[in-house]
Amino acid sequence: MRRRHTGLGAVALATLALAAAAPATATPKTPADTRGSTVAARPDTLRAAAQRAGIRIGTAVDDTALTGDQPYRQIVGREFSTVTPENAMKWEAVEPTRGTYDWAAADRLVDFARSHGQTVRGHTLVWHSQNPAWLTEAAFTPAQLREILRRHILDEVGHFKGRIWHWDVVNEAFNEDGTLRDTIWLRNLGPGYIADAFRWAHQADPEAQLFLNDYNNEGINPKTDAYYALVKRLRAEHVPVDGYGVQGHLALQYDFPADVTANLRRFDALGLQTAFTEVDVRMILPADAVKTQAQAQGFATLLRSCLLVRRCVSYTVWGFTDKYSWVPGVFDGQGAATPYDEALTPKPAYFALRDTLAVAGR
Ligand code: XIL
Repeated sequence: MRRRHTGLGAVALATLALAAAAPATATPKTPADTRGSTVAARPDTLRAAAQRAGIRIGTAVDDTALTGDQPYRQIVGREFSTVTPENAMKWEAVEPTRGTYDWAAADRLVDFARSHGQTVRGHTLVWHSQNPAWLTEAAFTPAQLREILRRHILDEVGHFKGRIWHWDVVNEAFNEDGTLRDTIWLRNLGPGYIADAFRWAHQADPEAQLFLNDYNNEGINPKTDAYYALVKRLRAEHVPVDGYGVQGHLALQYDFPADVTANLRRFDALGLQTAFTEVDVRMILPADAVKTQAQAQGFATLLRSCLLVRRCVSYTVWGFTDKYSWVPGVFDGQGAATPYDEALTPKPAYFALRDTLAVAGR
């Protein structure tokens, strides 16, 4: 009796001694987290909490910052499990001169993602914005434009074949009233350009998940009704559309959209994956404690909707730090829109995201 007791005590003591010797950060590692930097395994990160919650947490990544800002780079690797190039895969970036591709910046991010166990959301193939001048300023015939678009999609998706998780195939196709946006593509190719784009993307990489993506499409409104009708039609025609992307650019001076969960659910019911793809919550500057708290709620509310919807697979912020956010450059007098401040210090929004993920991961 006593001997057995003593023996057990020795084992327990040895275990305690081992535990005391182990570094405080040692935790069971997951396959995804053991690749690349060891900091990725830290338990108190967004990515660890997201993994337990069963979704991916992402950020848009600025190529200049990733290359030149070491603390920024460390946070991208440590906190996120999926990344989106903020600009590097857009048409004007990859083909500034007709027929001459420059994949350098995009490849850098794809390589970074691979070495950090992250997936990549490819952004974006067909859009009305950030197209090269050679494309928008010349007078191509509709037949030429169709061939140019087909080539673009086959070449870009082909270049990254096997390395992209989600592609934002068509970005911002609708107006707020639910009519199709008047773009070079609609004008020249007609509404069928959307189905064509998905078919070409699927042809070039059958494994990639193919998304529609837009803004002001969180709740139920004429724009999202139009998306719903479009997706139904595309699925009936066996067009390979897999996902509905919700950018999630919110602003404190407007009310947060209602019906977000209900809207995601109706796309979920059509068999689509859903994702928040570009979340930020801007405010009229200067920031103060109340606005910063309200912002945290905005971030968390969208995340909670994702967690409530079965096939909502990822939640990406459009830049994680105010240091590089696109907001001040585009929205006069507004900013402070991301979960980290300009000194790369986490704000209440960061903790709201992590706490919300933690609840789901229990
Ligand atoms: C923005 C980038 O953040 C900026 O750096 C760039 O100057 C303009 O585009 N919707 C989208 C994104 O789909 O591609 C946009 O990104 C923001 C709005």
